[in-house]
Amino acid sequence: MMALAAVCLAAAAQKPGQPSWLSEAVFYQIYPSSYQDSDGNGIGDIPGIASRLDYIKSLGVTAIWLNPVYVSGWTDGGYDIIDYYQVDPRFGTNTDLVELVKQAHARGIKVVMDLVAGHSSDQSEWFKQSSQAPDLRYSDYYIWPSFIPESGPDPSLLRKFVKTDAPRGPYYIKNFFDTQPALNFGFANPDPSHPWEQPVDGPGPTAMRRELKNIMRFWMDKGIDGFRVDMAASLVKNDVDKAETIKLWKEDFTKWFDEEYPEGVLIAEWFNPSQSLEAGFDIDFFCHDGQYNYSTLFFYGRRGRDGQEPTVPYFDQSGRGGLQTWYDLYKFQYDAAQGKGYVCMPSGNHDFNRLCTEGRTDPAQLKVAMTFFLTMPGVPFIYYGDEIGLKQNPAAPPTEGSGGRAGCRIPMLWDGSANAGFSTAPIDKIYIPQDPDPNRMTVEKAEEDPNSLLHYVRSLVRLRTQVKALGTDASWRLVSPLDQPYPMVYERKQGDERCYVVLNPTGRTAQILLPPDPGTPTLIGGSYRSCTYRHIRRGDAIVISPESAAILKF
Ligand code: GLC
Repeated sequence: MMALAAVCLAAAAQKPGQPSWLSEAVFYQIYPSSYQDSDGNGIGDIPGIASRLDYIKSLGVTAIWLNPVYVSGWTDGGYDIIDYYQVDPRFGTNTDLVELVKQAHARGIKVVMDLVAGHSSDQSEWFKQSSQAPDLRYSDYYIWPSFIPESGPDPSLLRKFVKTDAPRGPYYIKNFFDTQPALNFGFANPDPSHPWEQPVDGPGPTAMRRELKNIMRFWMDKGIDGFRVDMAASLVKNDVDKAETIKLWKEDFTKWFDEEYPEGVLIAEWFNPSQSLEAGFDIDFFCHDGQYNYSTLFFYGRRGRDGQEPTVPYFDQSGRGGLQTWYDLYKFQYDAAQGKGYVCMPSGNHDFNRLCTEGRTDPAQLKVAMTFFLTMPGVPFIYYGDEIGLKQNPAAPPTEGSGGRAGCRIPMLWDGSANAGFSTAPIDKIYIPQDPDPNRMTVEKAEEDPNSLLHYVRSLVRLRTQVKALGTDASWRLVSPLDQPYPMVYERKQGDERCYVVLNPTGRTAQILLPPDPGTPTLIGGSYRSCTYRHIRRGDAIVISPESAAILKF
């Protein structure tokens, strides 16, 4: 009976029927315009990515997520799609993409595309046609209100009415920027006095659903391994509790996808795993957005919930950060995800400041943070460049709708050649300016230094695959008390195997007294000058050097 309970617990993290490769996966996110330029125009492309596959493989990662590569109006970094069935010429052709997938697969690497489900570009043929008349093929792919109601179930929707001179005007509903009209997946509880509000199973939304499945089928049948779905929570309008949006995914898209492509992955950008995993997604992110922030861990100058925590993040040398806000939110999501899918904290992404920023540029600190990302449960996501400490460029000019996000979308730094090997274009043609510092870190330099962050990241990825207790499905428990946040100690456990991870991002030695444990662990990894674990009279004492991370195995 006991043994059976243990087996059930060990498997509890997994969603039944999830893709077989997922619990061993480590993702690498690539912003395609910024990774490698192969044709000398200053912008990265697909053949460029293909030429770096051996490097990607060397990291130990098993999957790539590509930000959008579709034909785009480029008013939002590719998230304003003109043609969902074509690769943008700046990146190459559909054939180049298929070739990339083949070459990645030959190395055991999966390829996942971005799927912008909630909105297209206002330059798409669908939108152009829809804006003309109400009875054409794509007319109901978009929503054309005749007036702005004074109030509504979701007040934020009223701010998304965009004034237009188009014949279908005077308004359309957008999803993000004005150039991104919302695709029509219907309304929760349509108001009969608002003729533009079709129910979720109305003719427009039904046609739209067919089209979205076509898009998914088109690319899956070309060999890709799944999608990261942009703003996945945004589909059904006026759906305040998300019940209709969850139902739409659960009873239609994710159900259909799982049946057709059982080995394909669906990753939500929903920022609320308790909802998205219920909707049938395999993974959701826990990062910068809304209250589900990990901002109190990593962001400078942001307040936690109710402003009760300092604006200094936890992963800072000063040791003035806290864990409570993050812990409460993370623990809630972690518990909600058991048996349903994975909560993932990425090392960064294309929407917020890089890990290597402001007060956190020292490789020792970056190693502590990367230890966290690569020893937490859920599937790890490494944002390209974080493995070498690619630095946020606060001076990067807004580029193609990035606003303040250009500084984290900077081109990769490969070697000592012109433009750090990213591109042969003249420097003023480089997509986003690179760090001009002559001492900037590059892959080449990092390869030569046995103590580099790059080598350390590789060792962590290896350790994670070797030690099941550090893996995606192993359980997680914070062992150190919340009122003494440094060092943070958590336990990972799978079957009989058990590890403690000890993190001290501060510039001072940190120590902690824990309840006595019958076992005596040994150090199996980390980045530290010293870390001791001793049984003393009052409990178990851990002392760890400044800016250090240690992995202990019982
Ligand atoms: C997502 C993307 C972001 C984009 C937005 C609108 O949040 O990550 O880059 O601007 O959706 O598509």
